[in-house]
Amino acid sequence: MNIEDLSKELSSVVIQNETELEQFRIRFLGSKNILKDLYAALKDIPNDQKRAYGQQVNELKQKAEDIYASAKAAFSVSQNQSQKEDLTKPATDPNVGSHHPLSLIRREIVEIFNRIGFVVSEGPEIEDDWHNFSALNFPPEHPARDMQDTFFIEKGEQEWALRTHTSSVQVRVMEQEKPPIRTISPGRVYRNEAISARAHCFFHQVEGLYIDQNVSFADLKQTLLFFAQELFGEQTKIRLRPSYFPFTEPSAEVDVSCSLCAGKGCNVCKYTGWLEIMGCGMVDPNVLDACGIDSKTYSGFAFGMGVERIAQLKYRVTDLRLYSENDIRFLKQFTPGVS
Ligand code: DAH
Repeated sequence: MNIEDLSKELSSVVIQNETELEQFRIRFLGSKNILKDLYAALKDIPNDQKRAYGQQVNELKQKAEDIYASAKAAFSVSQNQSQKEDLTKPATDPNVGSHHPLSLIRREIVEIFNRIGFVVSEGPEIEDDWHNFSALNFPPEHPARDMQDTFFIEKGEQEWALRTHTSSVQVRVMEQEKPPIRTISPGRVYRNEAISARAHCFFHQVEGLYIDQNVSFADLKQTLLFFAQELFGEQTKIRLRPSYFPFTEPSAEVDVSCSLCAGKGCNVCKYTGWLEIMGCGMVDPNVLDACGIDSKTYSGFAFGMGVERIAQLKYRVTDLRLYSENDIRFLKQFTPGVS
C-alpha cells in the first residue's frame, strides 16, 4: 500500500456502524496499523525527499484520526438519544384528515333513506336537454332553460349543459329500470349565478324517487316525516305547502319545525317556527310516460333537497362560500376527534 492508495481509501471510507468503526481504528490507528509500514519505509527514502514524504504520511494519519473522531462522536450521540427515549410515553397522534361537512351531511341523508330501502344511483354532471329538461316535462320556453340559469356546453351537433338539478338522474333510472323503484341520487349541480354568501354556481342536491303500483301522497308524507325526524330529532314536525314543479303534480314545498326554537320562533326561522328544506310531489304522468313507465299502472313520488341547505340548518353555517374555500380551520371542525 502506498500513500496515494491509502489517501484514496480514506477519502471514500464510509463507517456505518460500531463494528466498522473498530475495524477502521485497528487498520489506521491500532498498534499494528498500516501507516507504521509507511513510517518504516522512511529510512529508504532519499534524504532530499524525506521531509515531503514524512509530511504526507503525517497528513494521512491526521486524516484517519479526524475520520475516527467524528464517526465516534456521531455514534455516541445516537446512542445517547436512544438511551434517553422514554418508551412509555404516549405515541404522537398521526395527523389524520377530516371529512368535508357536506360529505358528512350527504352520508347521513343517504343512510337514513338506505334504512327504508332506497338505493343510491348516480348520473353524469354533463347532461343533455332530454334528461335535464324535456323528459321532466319542462316546456320549451320554460325560464329554467334560460342562459341565466344554465351553463351550456358546445360540443358537436348536440347541445349539452351542466345539470341544473339531480332530477336528471330520476329520468336515467326510470329509463333503465322497471318498477318498483326506490332510489336516492346525491350529486353536484350547477347554475349560472353570481357567487355570494347565499348563492353559488355549484352546489349539491339529493334526489329521491319511489315508483310502484298505488303509491300515494300519504306515502310521500310519511316517508318525509320519517326522514325529518331521523335527521333533526323525533319531536320534528313537517308541513307541506302547495307549490309548482313541471315534473310533479301535485307539488309541494316541505318545511320542518325549527329545531333551534322548537317552533316558537327565532331569527334562524325568521320567527315563523318553520324552515324550508325541500321540494316534492307526485311524479307527473307525462314524466312516467316519457321515461317508458306506464302511468296507468304505476304512480310515484319524488323529492329533491339541497345538501348545503341542510348543512346550514344542522351546522349553522350561513355563508355558502366557506364550503368550497378549502380552509382547513373551517373544514376540520365537523369531524369529532380531529383538532
Ligand atoms: N329539482 C328541483 C330543484 O332543483 C328540486 C325538486 C323538487 C326535486 C321537487 C324533486 C321534486 O324531485 O319532486 O329545485
